Amino acid sequence: MLVTLSEILRDANERHYAVGAFNSLSVENVMGAIEAAERLRSPIILQLAEVQFPEAPLDLMAPLFLQAARKATVPVCVHLDHGQSLETCVKAIRLGFTSVMFDGAALPFEENVAVTREVTRIAKAAGVDVEAELGKVGDSGVDTADVFTDVDESVRFVQATGVDALAIAIGNLHGHYVHTPQLNIARLIEIHEANRLPLVLHGGSGTSTEDFKACIHNGICKINVATAIQRGIMKQMNARLAAKPDEGYIPLKQVMIDASRDVVADHIRLFESDGKA
Ligand code: 13P
Repeated sequence: MLVTLSEILRDANERHYAVGAFNSLSVENVMGAIEAAERLRSPIILQLAEVQFPEAPLDLMAPLFLQAARKATVPVCVHLDHGQSLETCVKAIRLGFTSVMFDGAALPFEENVAVTREVTRIAKAAGVDVEAELGKVGDSGVDTADVFTDVDESVRFVQATGVDALAIAIGNLHGHYVHTPQLNIARLIEIHEANRLPLVLHGGSGTSTEDFKACIHNGICKINVATAIQRGIMKQMNARLAAKPDEGYIPLKQVMIDASRDVVADHIRLFESDGKA
Protein backbone atom coordinates (compact mmCIF):
# COMPACT_ATOMS: atom_id res chain seq x y z
CA MET A 1 0.00 0.00 0.00
CA LEU A 2 1.15 3.49 -0.86
CA VAL A 3 1.83 5.70 2.19
CA THR A 4 3.50 9.01 3.03
CA LEU A 5 6.88 9.42 4.71
CA SER A 6 5.46 10.56 8.05
CA GLU A 7 3.07 7.60 8.15
CA ILE A 8 5.92 5.15 7.58
CA LEU A 9 8.35 6.87 9.98
CA ARG A 10 5.96 7.48 12.91
CA ASP A 11 6.16 3.89 14.19
CA ALA A 12 9.91 3.71 13.48
CA ASN A 13 10.44 6.83 15.61
CA GLU A 14 8.38 5.40 18.47
CA ARG A 15 9.84 1.89 18.39
CA HIS A 16 13.46 2.77 17.53
CA TYR A 17 14.06 1.08 14.22
CA ALA A 18 14.80 2.53 10.77
CA VAL A 19 13.03 2.11 7.45
CA GLY A 20 15.41 1.48 4.54
CA ALA A 21 15.17 3.87 1.58
CA PHE A 22 16.47 2.01 -1.43
CA ASN A 23 17.57 3.89 -4.56
CA SER A 24 15.96 1.94 -7.40
CA LEU A 25 16.91 2.49 -11.04
CA SER A 26 15.15 -0.39 -12.77
CA VAL A 27 12.20 -2.75 -12.70
CA GLU A 28 14.60 -5.41 -11.33
CA ASN A 29 15.55 -3.16 -8.39
CA VAL A 30 11.90 -2.42 -7.63
CA MET A 31 10.77 -6.06 -7.90
CA GLY A 32 13.62 -7.24 -5.68
CA ALA A 33 13.02 -4.57 -3.04
CA ILE A 34 9.28 -5.27 -2.83
CA GLU A 35 9.88 -9.03 -2.67
CA ALA A 36 12.28 -8.57 0.27
CA ALA A 37 9.88 -6.24 2.10
CA GLU A 38 6.91 -8.58 1.65
CA ARG A 39 8.86 -11.67 2.69
CA LEU A 40 10.14 -9.95 5.84
CA ARG A 41 6.92 -8.01 6.54
CA SER A 42 8.76 -4.71 6.52
CA PRO A 43 7.78 -1.19 5.46
CA ILE A 44 10.14 0.27 2.84
CA ILE A 45 10.83 3.44 0.88
CA LEU A 46 11.48 3.33 -2.88
CA GLN A 47 13.47 6.37 -3.94
CA LEU A 48 15.12 7.96 -6.94
CA ALA A 49 17.67 10.80 -6.79
CA GLU A 50 17.75 13.66 -9.29
CA VAL A 51 21.34 12.77 -10.30
CA GLN A 52 19.98 9.37 -11.36
CA PHE A 53 17.43 10.84 -13.83
CA PRO A 54 19.70 10.40 -16.92
CA GLU A 55 19.67 6.59 -16.38
CA ALA A 56 16.19 6.40 -14.83
CA PRO A 57 13.96 9.29 -15.95
CA LEU A 58 11.54 10.54 -13.31
CA ASP A 59 8.44 10.37 -15.53
CA LEU A 60 9.18 6.76 -16.56
CA MET A 61 10.04 5.57 -13.05
CA ALA A 62 7.09 7.25 -11.29
CA PRO A 63 4.35 4.91 -12.62
CA LEU A 64 6.56 1.87 -11.87
CA PHE A 65 7.23 2.94 -8.27
CA LEU A 66 3.61 3.94 -7.66
CA GLN A 67 2.07 0.76 -9.07
CA ALA A 68 4.55 -1.42 -7.17
CA ALA A 69 3.70 0.47 -3.97
CA ARG A 70 -0.08 0.19 -4.47
CA LYS A 71 0.14 -3.55 -5.17
CA ALA A 72 2.44 -4.29 -2.24
CA THR A 73 1.05 -5.97 0.87
CA VAL A 74 3.31 -3.82 3.09
CA PRO A 75 3.50 0.01 3.46
CA VAL A 76 5.66 1.61 0.73
CA CYS A 77 6.56 5.30 0.48
CA VAL A 78 7.58 6.70 -2.95
CA HIS A 79 10.21 9.38 -2.37
CA LEU A 80 12.26 11.86 -4.41
CA ASP A 81 15.86 11.72 -3.16
CA HIS A 82 18.10 14.84 -3.36
CA GLY A 83 15.80 17.11 -5.31
CA GLN A 84 18.00 19.97 -6.46
CA SER A 85 15.31 22.59 -7.06
CA LEU A 86 11.77 23.58 -6.17
CA GLU A 87 10.79 22.72 -9.77
CA THR A 88 11.98 19.11 -9.49
CA CYS A 89 10.12 18.68 -6.20
CA VAL A 90 6.92 20.02 -7.80
CA LYS A 91 7.34 17.61 -10.75
CA ALA A 92 7.61 14.65 -8.38
CA ILE A 93 4.57 15.86 -6.40
CA ARG A 94 2.53 16.16 -9.60
CA LEU A 95 3.58 12.64 -10.65
CA GLY A 96 2.21 11.25 -7.37
CA PHE A 97 5.28 10.85 -5.14
CA THR A 98 4.20 10.79 -1.49
CA SER A 99 7.40 12.43 -0.25
CA VAL A 100 10.11 14.71 -1.63
CA MET A 101 13.54 15.74 -0.44
CA PHE A 102 14.83 19.19 -1.20
CA ASP A 103 18.61 19.20 -0.75
CA GLY A 104 19.75 22.73 -0.02
CA ALA A 105 22.67 21.66 2.15
CA ALA A 106 25.18 23.41 -0.11
CA LEU A 107 23.25 26.70 0.10
CA PRO A 108 23.80 29.38 2.75
CA PHE A 109 21.60 28.62 5.80
CA GLU A 110 18.97 31.31 5.15
CA GLU A 111 18.61 30.31 1.49
CA ASN A 112 18.25 26.65 2.43
CA VAL A 113 15.50 27.68 4.88
CA ALA A 114 13.72 29.85 2.29
CA VAL A 115 13.57 27.23 -0.50
CA THR A 116 12.80 24.36 1.88
CA ARG A 117 9.94 26.39 3.38
CA GLU A 118 8.48 26.97 -0.09
CA VAL A 119 8.79 23.27 -0.98
CA THR A 120 7.05 22.40 2.29
CA ARG A 121 4.22 24.90 1.67
CA ILE A 122 3.47 23.40 -1.77
CA ALA A 123 3.98 19.77 -0.70
CA LYS A 124 1.67 20.12 2.31
CA ALA A 125 -1.10 21.52 0.09
CA ALA A 126 -0.83 18.28 -1.93
CA GLY A 127 -0.65 15.98 1.13
CA VAL A 128 3.00 15.18 0.44
CA ASP A 129 5.79 15.03 3.06
CA VAL A 130 9.19 16.71 2.95
CA GLU A 131 12.73 15.74 3.92
CA ALA A 132 15.50 18.37 3.95
CA GLU A 133 19.22 18.30 4.69
CA LEU A 134 21.36 20.41 6.98
CA GLY A 135 25.13 20.04 7.21
CA LYS A 136 27.03 18.45 4.38
CA VAL A 137 27.10 14.74 3.64
CA GLY A 138 30.37 14.53 1.73
CA ASP A 139 31.57 12.29 -1.03
CA SER A 140 34.18 9.57 -0.49
CA GLY A 141 37.60 10.85 0.45
CA VAL A 142 36.39 14.23 1.78
CA ASP A 143 37.15 15.25 5.37
CA THR A 144 33.70 15.87 6.87
CA ALA A 145 34.63 17.03 10.38
CA ASP A 146 33.87 20.72 9.77
CA VAL A 147 30.52 20.11 8.11
CA PHE A 148 28.63 18.19 10.81
CA THR A 149 25.08 19.38 11.41
CA ASP A 150 25.01 22.10 14.08
CA VAL A 151 22.50 21.43 16.90
CA ASP A 152 21.23 25.02 17.32
CA GLU A 153 20.93 25.49 13.57
CA SER A 154 18.95 22.25 13.33
CA VAL A 155 16.36 23.58 15.81
CA ARG A 156 16.02 26.89 13.95
CA PHE A 157 15.83 25.05 10.62
CA VAL A 158 13.12 22.58 11.67
CA GLN A 159 11.00 25.30 13.28
CA ALA A 160 11.32 27.66 10.30
CA THR A 161 10.60 25.08 7.59
CA GLY A 162 8.11 22.61 9.09
CA VAL A 163 9.81 19.60 7.45
CA ASP A 164 8.75 16.05 8.35
CA ALA A 165 12.27 14.53 8.42
CA LEU A 166 15.79 15.92 8.56
CA ALA A 167 18.91 14.42 6.97
CA ILE A 168 21.97 15.15 9.09
CA ALA A 169 25.73 15.00 8.61
CA ILE A 170 27.59 13.14 11.37
CA GLY A 171 30.55 11.81 9.41
CA ASN A 172 28.54 9.85 6.83
CA LEU A 173 29.52 9.90 3.15
CA HIS A 174 27.88 8.87 -0.11
CA GLY A 175 29.42 6.17 -2.28
CA HIS A 176 32.26 3.77 -1.63
CA TYR A 177 34.05 4.26 1.68
CA VAL A 178 37.82 3.91 1.60
CA HIS A 179 37.75 3.21 5.36
CA THR A 180 34.71 2.23 7.41
CA PRO A 181 33.51 5.59 8.83
CA GLN A 182 33.21 6.36 12.52
CA LEU A 183 29.97 8.24 12.98
CA ASN A 184 29.61 10.98 15.60
CA ILE A 185 26.86 9.37 17.70
CA ALA A 186 27.20 12.02 20.44
CA ARG A 187 26.19 14.68 17.89
CA LEU A 188 23.29 12.51 16.72
CA ILE A 189 22.00 12.23 20.30
CA GLU A 190 22.21 16.01 20.78
CA ILE A 191 20.31 16.67 17.54
CA HIS A 192 17.70 14.04 18.43
CA GLU A 193 17.15 15.48 21.91
CA ALA A 194 16.78 19.00 20.55
CA ASN A 195 14.37 17.96 17.73
CA ARG A 196 11.99 15.07 18.12
CA LEU A 197 11.29 14.66 14.40
CA PRO A 198 12.55 11.58 12.49
CA LEU A 199 16.21 11.90 11.43
CA VAL A 200 17.69 10.50 8.23
CA LEU A 201 21.10 8.94 7.56
CA HIS A 202 22.39 9.24 4.00
CA GLY A 203 25.31 7.23 2.66
CA GLY A 204 24.16 3.98 4.27
CA SER A 205 26.41 1.65 2.26
CA GLY A 206 29.53 0.50 4.08
CA THR A 207 28.55 1.70 7.57
CA SER A 208 29.56 -0.69 10.39
CA THR A 209 26.87 -2.77 12.07
CA GLU A 210 27.78 -1.11 15.38
CA ASP A 211 27.20 2.39 13.94
CA PHE A 212 23.94 1.34 12.28
CA LYS A 213 22.65 0.02 15.61
CA ALA A 214 23.75 3.16 17.48
CA CYS A 215 21.98 5.27 14.82
CA ILE A 216 18.65 3.47 14.84
CA HIS A 217 18.52 3.38 18.64
CA ASN A 218 19.16 7.15 18.85
CA GLY A 219 16.73 8.77 16.44
CA ILE A 220 17.68 7.74 12.89
CA CYS A 221 14.42 6.48 11.35
CA LYS A 222 15.31 6.41 7.63
CA ILE A 223 18.55 5.10 6.12
CA ASN A 224 19.41 5.59 2.44
CA VAL A 225 21.11 2.74 0.60
CA ALA A 226 22.28 2.92 -3.02
CA THR A 227 25.85 1.74 -3.59
CA ALA A 228 25.42 -1.57 -1.74
CA ILE A 229 22.60 -2.61 -4.09
CA GLN A 230 24.65 -1.84 -7.20
CA ARG A 231 27.65 -3.69 -5.78
CA GLY A 232 25.52 -6.69 -4.82
CA ILE A 233 24.09 -6.92 -8.32
CA MET A 234 27.50 -6.64 -10.00
CA LYS A 235 28.93 -9.33 -7.72
CA GLN A 236 26.14 -11.82 -8.50
CA MET A 237 26.17 -10.97 -12.23
CA ASN A 238 29.95 -11.38 -12.47
CA ALA A 239 29.80 -14.71 -10.62
CA ARG A 240 27.01 -15.94 -12.88
CA LEU A 241 28.81 -14.87 -16.07
CA ALA A 242 32.06 -16.46 -14.88
CA ALA A 243 30.20 -19.74 -14.27
CA LYS A 244 28.04 -19.50 -17.42
CA PRO A 245 29.67 -17.16 -19.97
CA ASP A 246 26.84 -17.69 -22.48
CA GLU A 247 24.06 -16.91 -20.03
CA GLY A 248 21.05 -15.31 -21.76
CA TYR A 249 19.45 -11.95 -21.00
CA ILE A 250 16.31 -13.22 -19.25
CA PRO A 251 18.17 -15.34 -16.65
CA LEU A 252 20.42 -12.33 -16.00
CA LYS A 253 17.38 -10.18 -15.31
CA GLN A 254 16.41 -12.72 -12.66
CA VAL A 255 19.93 -12.52 -11.18
CA MET A 256 19.42 -8.74 -10.86
CA ILE A 257 16.05 -9.18 -9.13
CA ASP A 258 17.45 -11.79 -6.73
CA ALA A 259 20.56 -9.72 -5.93
CA SER A 260 18.44 -6.61 -5.27
CA ARG A 261 16.19 -8.68 -3.00
CA ASP A 262 19.14 -10.12 -1.06
CA VAL A 263 20.82 -6.75 -0.42
CA VAL A 264 17.55 -5.11 0.58
CA ALA A 265 16.68 -8.05 2.87
CA ASP A 266 20.07 -7.81 4.63
CA HIS A 267 19.50 -4.11 5.31
CA ILE A 268 15.92 -4.61 6.47
CA ARG A 269 17.22 -7.06 9.10
CA LEU A 270 20.08 -4.72 10.07
CA PHE A 271 17.66 -1.80 10.48
CA GLU A 272 15.24 -4.00 12.52
CA SER A 273 12.22 -3.09 10.40
CA ASP A 274 11.39 -6.77 9.73
CA GLY A 275 8.09 -7.89 11.27
CA LYS A 276 6.93 -4.27 11.69
CA ALA A 277 4.45 -4.22 8.76
P1 13P B 1 25.16 5.13 -0.56
O1 13P B 1 25.37 5.11 -2.04
O2 13P B 1 26.40 5.39 0.21
O3 13P B 1 24.41 3.93 -0.07
O4 13P B 1 24.25 6.42 -0.25
C1 13P B 1 22.92 6.43 -0.66
C2 13P B 1 22.28 7.75 -0.38
O5 13P B 1 22.53 8.39 0.62
C3 13P B 1 21.30 8.24 -1.36
O6 13P B 1 20.77 9.47 -0.99
